[in-house]
Parts: sequence; C-alpha cells; structure tokens
Amino acid sequence: MIRKFIRLIVLFIILSSSLLRADEGMWIPVLMEKFNIEIMKEKGFKLSAEDIYSINKASMKDAVMIFGGGCTAELISDRGLLITNHHCGYRSIQSHSTVDNDYLTNGFWAMSQEEELTNPGLTVTFLKWMKDVTGEVLKGIEDGMSEEEMSDIKQENIDRINEEAIEGTHFTAQVKPFYYGNQYFLFVNETYKDVRLVGAPPSAIGKFGGDTDNWMWPRHTGDFSLFRIYAGKENEPVGYSPDNVPFKPEKFFPISLKGTEPGDFTMVFGYPGSTYEYVPSFHLQMLTRDIYPELIDVRTKKLEIMQNAMEKSRIVRIQYSAKAAGVSNSWKRWKGEIRGLDKLDAIAKKQAYEERFREWTHEDSERNQLYGNLLSRYDKVYNEIAPVRLARSYFREVFFYNGVENISLASGFSKLVSLVGNNASPEEIDEVLESLRKRVSGFFKNYDPATGDALSVAMLLLFEENVPWKYHPEEFKRIMEKFDGNYQAWIEKVRKKSLFVNEKTLLEFLNSFKSSGVKKIEKDPIFRLAQSAGETYNGILSDYGELNQELVSLHRVYMKAQMEFEPGKLFYPDANFSLRVSYGEAKGYEPRDAVFYKHYTTLEGVMEKDDPAIYDYNVPEKLRELYRKKDYGRYAPDGKMPVCFLATNHTTGGNSGSPVINAEGHLIGINFDRAWEGVMSDLMFNPEQCRNISLDIRYALFIIDKFAGAGYLLDEMTLVE
Ligand code: ARG
Ligand code: GLU
Repeated sequence: MIRKFIRLIVLFIILSSSLLRADEGMWIPVLMEKFNIEIMKEKGFKLSAEDIYSINKASMKDAVMIFGGGCTAELISDRGLLITNHHCGYRSIQSHSTVDNDYLTNGFWAMSQEEELTNPGLTVTFLKWMKDVTGEVLKGIEDGMSEEEMSDIKQENIDRINEEAIEGTHFTAQVKPFYYGNQYFLFVNETYKDVRLVGAPPSAIGKFGGDTDNWMWPRHTGDFSLFRIYAGKENEPVGYSPDNVPFKPEKFFPISLKGTEPGDFTMVFGYPGSTYEYVPSFHLQMLTRDIYPELIDVRTKKLEIMQNAMEKSRIVRIQYSAKAAGVSNSWKRWKGEIRGLDKLDAIAKKQAYEERFREWTHEDSERNQLYGNLLSRYDKVYNEIAPVRLARSYFREVFFYNGVENISLASGFSKLVSLVGNNASPEEIDEVLESLRKRVSGFFKNYDPATGDALSVAMLLLFEENVPWKYHPEEFKRIMEKFDGNYQAWIEKVRKKSLFVNEKTLLEFLNSFKSSGVKKIEKDPIFRLAQSAGETYNGILSDYGELNQELVSLHRVYMKAQMEFEPGKLFYPDANFSLRVSYGEAKGYEPRDAVFYKHYTTLEGVMEKDDPAIYDYNVPEKLRELYRKKDYGRYAPDGKMPVCFLATNHTTGGNSGSPVINAEGHLIGINFDRAWEGVMSDLMFNPEQCRNISLDIRYALFIIDKFAGAGYLLDEMTLVE
C-alpha cells in the first residue's frame, strides 16, 4: 500500500516536472498530430499539424532543407531563394574570395541573377516523405539472438526498404534509428546540386562579435547569407548548367515584420545533429571529468598560438580565422557544458534517477532479469571506453585537425601510394593527382609556416606528456627518442628534407609524377609519421568501435527500460540529424544573481560594442551612418532596429540556419546559436537557462535593403506587416 502510494507520488512528480519542461524536446514531424499539436495550440500556434508536415499538400517541410553537410536553410521566395547563416555559407563565401575581391571582408551582393556565383559541391536536400518502418526493420528478429545476428538481419531489411522506397525515382533513401534502435524511420530525400551564392554581409556584420561573443548573449551578429537553388527545365535537380532556371518550390515562408513579445509562440524547424539526453550518469562523468578538461587544454594552446599570430599579421588572420573559429567553437561549448551541468547538479540528478530505476527493476523478477544488471554493465563499459575515447580525441587534435598541419596534408597522399602499389590505371592515378594538386593549393593558401611550426611543437609536446605510451605511434617514439623531445629541432630538420612543407616543391613533384616517385613519399619524414599515426589511430578506432557497439546496445535496452519505468512521460528521441520541430516562446532569462537578460537586442548594442581597434567589433562605416540617420525603413518599430532574439526552443548543432516561425507560420528569425548558460542542453535541458539565439529577420531585411542596396531581392519575398 505504502509502496503504491510512493509510486503514485513519484509518478506525479515526474508528470508535473515533464509538464513544467514542456518546451524541452525535438519532435518528429509525422507525429505532431498525435503528440504535440494540442500543446502547441495552447502555446498559441494557429496552424495545424498538416501545415507543418503533409504528403497530401504543400507544407512547411517543403520549404526547409539540409544546407551543405550540417546546416539548415529555408526558402523565402517562389524563385528558389533561400536564407541560412553566414557561418553556414562561410566556406562558399570564402572560396570566391581573393585578396582583391575579398567577399568575406567586404560582403557580396549579386545585383542580378547573372551575378550569382556557383558553388561546386554545395547541395541542398529536401525531405519528400518519411514513415515509421520499425516493424519492417525488426522483421525476423527473435529473442535470444546475438547482437551480430540481429544487426545483420536489420541491415538486410534496411537495404531492402531503401531500395523499394526509391525504385524508379531520382530520390535517395535513408533509414535512421530513433530511441537507440527502438524505433526506425525511413526518410526519402531529394537533393539539388546547383546552389548559387546571392548575398552575404561583410564579416563585420555576419560574424560581428566573432569568437568573443560566440555562444553568448547579449548578441549582435547578423549571421545570415542568401543562396538560390537552380533546377533543370522540368524543375528537376541537375548539376550546374548556365541553362538552369530558378527552382520553383511547392512552399516558401512568408516573412513577418511583426517581431516578438515575451511569451509569443516560436517554432524551430530544422536538422538538430545529436543529443544525449537518456544516457546514464557515467556518460556525463566521462565527458566532464575525463574528456572535456583535457581537450579544453589542448585547444587553449592552439588558440593561444593562432590568435597571437593573427594579431600580428593580416595575412595570417585570413589564413587562420576559419580554423580558429572551428577550434574555438567546441572549446567554448565544452567549457559551458561543464559549467552548466555542474550548476544543474546533473550527475547527482542522474544518479538519483538511477537509484529509483534500480529499485524499480528489483521489484519484479522478470524486470530484474531484463534490466537488473544494466547499470553495472554501463559502469564497466564506460570505464573501459573513456581512455580509448580520450586517445582517439588526442589523435584527432594532434595529427588530423589543426594540430601538426603538415601531417593532415601528408595523410592525403596514402591513396596515391596504394594506387601505385596496386598497379592502378594511369587514369585513376591522374584523377588522384588532380585532386591532390587542389588539396595542396588549398592547404598552402591557408598555411603559415611559422604558425604551423609553433602549433606542431606544442601539439607534439602535449601528445608526449598526456597520451599513454601504448598509444604512441612507432614513428613518434623514434622521433621522441632521437630528438630527446626537442620537436623544434625535429621540425627544423624536416623543413630541409620533407616534400610536405613547401607548396612549390610539392606541386612540381605532382606535376612530374612518375611511379618511382612513390619511394620519395614513403621515405618522407612527415609522411612516415602520418602513416604511423594513421595505423595506431585505426587500432584505436577499432577498439573504440567495439566498445561503442556495446554502449549502443546498452542504450537501446536502457531507453526501452526508461520508457517502461516512466509510462506517463512523453519521450522525444535524441537528435540524429533528421528533421525536427521544437516549439517554445520568446523569453529572456536570468543568467546569474540579480541580472536579467531581455529577450532581444538592437542596433544600439552594436554601436555600444563598436571599436575600430578590436577586430571583432569594428562596425562598417556604412552601418554607423545608417545608425546615425536612423535610416531603418519599415524594419524598425519605435525607431529601434532589432538584431537578435532569444527563445526557449530546444536546439543543437545542425539547427544553424533553421527557420524560426511564429504562430501564423511566418518567418521571424534564423536560428544560429545557443546562450552560454544553457549549452548543456545536449545532455540535460534546463528550462530556466536554455535559450536558442536567432537573428531577427528584420535585421536581415534591413541589411539587404539599406546596407547593401540589394532591395530588389525583397520584391520576390512575401512580407507580412
Ligand atoms: N556557436 C555557433 C555554432 O555552433 C556559431 C559558430 C560559428 N561562429 C563562430 N564565431 N565560431 O555553430
Ligand atoms: N551554431 C550551431 C550550428 O551551427 C547552432 C548552435 C547550437 O549548437 O545550438 O548548428
């Protein structure tokens, strides 16, 4: 009796806390009708679930796409015009930039369709339809099968499902696991390949505040860029051709000029990458104690070196600013995550939950059989995987990602070596030579020898100090011993001997390449270290993969168990880079005692930060002038130009560029970041502190119209007053 009563109370607490946390979650478009639309309507949403996702009529999903490899974008005209973040378009903008035509610094605006710039390799992907295929994927799975057996059967089923789904079409199909393999959805997609750059503000607007303001509020970044999708005569996806015509979408977003008041409904519709909300406390322990602190130190060192060099030279700034931004982005987020989880007492919370869970499993013998040893198995696997994961991270940081940069370059040559070794055809070899030439030019364009050397020395030292001996690549051991840990001396020697330190020599080598040249590569000191590091890394990856497979199986069972443990709770699946809806409201927050952050910023704040002496805060003269004249057109209510706003939507990496939509289904903003105090939301959501940061769409319109003088673009948009 008492037990039952306690259970009821627990259930009540769980239910009421899940109600309180109503804005948490990234929901599945086809299930909105079933699970979410009522709550959304209560929060003010005026449309139906069919308006969000439908296969019978044009719906919002037809206006949202994956942009490039990892961002979201949305259509804003019936002529294929799309908007995404400046940081999502960054690579494309950079690729068209030269010293004379520096679009990153000055911005770029096509003044007619003819002036739009093509971007080979850039694609956008639409979701055509999706479907629950759990039954089909699990067909043939029986109790007592081994993990291998099960995974073989699932893979066969998935292959068949994919094949059948796209038969006779130019679509692509992908089945993705949800709830760690307790449910499966099929996604049928269509990819357009001719995507042209239409406009981008100067970095001093699009990246205003730079890494200083990144992940922070108050924010004043005009983080947007414009592209246009082109299609063949039948509106079909085709590669670039001058004959292509602007894509005619089934749906695009009208743009609202109304802005937001606190409490107004907001919805983000896009592609969140990954979250880990249902993993056990051991996972948080591993990240915050074993992994993040070390990675933070490695990157602190990298940033110190890069920033130092960038401050001294304009050229180095151009070469290293994208690299530094990448390094800094996760570095800063990790710090925020540790802090946020700590403040939430997240590990203790998970542990208390696990204690209740354990009791629950012990209450019933069958349950105990199924779930009784989950947590102790987790404990064991996390203990094993943590050092392997750390080693994996060190290898990436030191050898393959903005560490010893020439090693990453040299790794790219192993394909050439193996092709020649396997007597590949001259055509195959030519193809690789061609791609290597591009890679080499790309590499040296953004490489400064002095900065590179400083990074190399620092990284090799950290590697020696912090990575256990058993993970030291053979070649690294040799160097360490021979040079007695003096990596500066090693580098100086290598500079005289290696192919991979000089663009001219390396290009000449490629241009006059003969099979016998392979020996020269194989003997090269940098290539040898790259090879050796690659071999050790592969071993680490395979150990990691095996342990991770165990974790994934445990996650699957634990997820199922949690859903049985809390039958009254509505579980949203962790992010997996599939299209999701998160809803919430415009809202400020209290970052610390006695401080309240308003939910929006204005151009006044840009001007407060203005400082020509600080690179990140150097406001363009034209913008200052518009500010002085208050020349804001119809975009600024009450004479103040809005810039960014906060809301409570649950978002993560990949949601960059996502449309932020109001109750009427109109575009009010472009999501681009989260606020510092809430970045732990990938692991645990705190409704008090978690906020997504969006660009106010009116700031984008103002910049296009008043700053860039590209107002003609507004003619094809639908503006709602
Ligand atoms: N924090 C945002 C995201 O995770 C923006 C990153 C780009 N901006 C930057 N200053 N590094 O992608
Ligand atoms: N800036 C992130 C992105 O590029 C979005 C911010 C976040 O992680 O929520 O996807």
